[in-house]
Amino acid sequence: MNQTLETILKRKSVRDYRDAPVPPDIRAQVLEATLRAPTAGNLMLYSIIEVTDRNIKNTLAKTCDDQPFIARAPWLLLFLADYQRWADYFELCGAGEFARRQGLPRRSPAEGDLMLACCDALIAAQTAVLAAESLGLGSCYIGDVMENYEEHRALFDLPRYTFPIALLCIGYPTEAQVKRGPTDRFAQEFIVFENRYRRLDALEFGRMFQVEHSRAFKNQPEVNGAASVGELIYRRKFAAGFALELNRSVRAILKNWTED
Ligand SMILES: Cc1cc2nc3c(=O)[nH]c(=O)nc-3n(C[C@H](O)[C@H](O)[C@H](O)COP(=O)(O)O)c2cc1C
Repeated sequence: MNQTLETILKRKSVRDYRDAPVPPDIRAQVLEATLRAPTAGNLMLYSIIEVTDRNIKNTLAKTCDDQPFIARAPWLLLFLADYQRWADYFELCGAGEFARRQGLPRRSPAEGDLMLACCDALIAAQTAVLAAESLGLGSCYIGDVMENYEEHRALFDLPRYTFPIALLCIGYPTEAQVKRGPTDRFAQEFIVFENRYRRLDALEFGRMFQVEHSRAFKNQPEVNGAASVGELIYRRKFAAGFALELNRSVRAILKNWTED
């Protein structure tokens, strides 16, 4: 197996870091690799905020669904989907007037632009993850940075056409973390289809969740009233407070991109 595949296959989220800073030359290498990520139209529709301020780190550990390890991460990168830079440049260039002269539509960034910008930001983030991994670092995404938009907007001075899509915690893994193996995944047959989408039937779901079911239920019929992995996940993830806040917060951000 080649080294690239080895890096990808052994990666796992790391939430426990050695008390060691990430040296500047290593950070520079990760960032250089990150900016080589594919980007829609080569527009680089994202920005990265390095969070170095102790108070901001402490705040994020609370506002991102109370995850204290965020404050302990030696290196924190916030990935923003960002059309603001282009919107500012268009304005600087007088693109609105140009559009009028040319009979082009006059418009502001909208939903489709946001989706592209999110793609860009996440592809860049994942490039950072793999670059960091290849240099012996561990990392963990924090999707909860999409919550509490109003607080994060104030914290980072976020302008209208940005979207805080992911926070990355990066640091050297502790010994215990290095020894830990990668986490399980669903089998390919449930995830990869040929030519068209295929909805799974009850038997397939049974096979898909077989391992998870026996791990969670250990031959018991119920866990706190839940009788299936579906019920467990519904309670733990889908109907959890953080998921409700996530949806409220994202709705608030979307207003920026959808209302005139
Ligand atoms: C979009 C996204 C958001 C995530 N948010 C969090 C988070 O807020 N907190 C956390 O501890 N892990 C978070 N994770 C990490 C996942 O829990 C982790 O990737 C998953 O459990 C699979 O484990 P692995 O990365 O070790 O393979 C996130 C991952 C992704 C891709």
